[in-house]
Amino acid sequence: MNKLAPAHPRDRLIVALDLPTVGEARDLVQAIGDEVSFYKIGLELILSNGPEGNGLGLVGELVDQGKRVFLDAKLLDIGNTVERSVARVAELGAAFLTIHGHDRKTMKAAIAGRGSSDLKILAVTVLTSLTAEDLAEQGIPEGLASSPADLVLHRARLAHETGIDGVIASGQEAANIRSATGGKILIVTPGIRLPGSDAGDQQRIMTPDHAIAAGADYIVVGRPINASSDPKAAAATFVRHIADAA
Ligand code: C5P
Repeated sequence: MNKLAPAHPRDRLIVALDLPTVGEARDLVQAIGDEVSFYKIGLELILSNGPEGNGLGLVGELVDQGKRVFLDAKLLDIGNTVERSVARVAELGAAFLTIHGHDRKTMKAAIAGRGSSDLKILAVTVLTSLTAEDLAEQGIPEGLASSPADLVLHRARLAHETGIDGVIASGQEAANIRSATGGKILIVTPGIRLPGSDAGDQQRIMTPDHAIAAGADYIVVGRPINASSDPKAAAATFVRHIADAA
């Protein structure tokens, strides 16, 4: 039994509100109702500012409805800016926030910024869109660049040593991260698809059952729910798969 994950399978599903407007995001949350308790707001919605407001305003709105919110802002800046920005996110009442977990300074600043709030800081280790060639292009030394999985593990260890609460990782990396960090770091896994469904642009996909069995505490699901003609039923299917694997 995974001690970091919530007890109820439903609370381990995070639905990505990857939609262009706050109005559409609100409609989706309403259509899904009680089936989902946790939503992810990413850069698209954070930066959209139409007549219905912006993604940051939606954080407080969802929190007021009893939902948890993961703000996927992927911060990376000088320590002072990161610390002050994370403090603002903590005031919004978000539950999770992402930063890029490349260096100790950024991660320490994020921890200082969240202060005594309940905000959990998640480190993005290596973006899943990056290949070995992309890492070499960034100047990452050959030993690590030739194996993105090794760089993920290196950064997950660094994040854990620095006191970061969790990491974003593919299901395929979850088991190694769990053993490298003694099982004491949250693992949040996107790239989830039901068996036989469309992968879209995701390269390294996993079924919800496999991701949970590999050690994911939470799974993040976007298009299979937010683009479904029946998002409530789609969410219920994912919750059933989590329950079966937990
Ligand atoms: O639609 P789909 O299920 O592929 O959406 C996955 C969500 O998880 C998107 O919001 C995407 O930005 C996010 N994500 C990801 N891979 C990462 C980090 C975040 O797919 N490494």
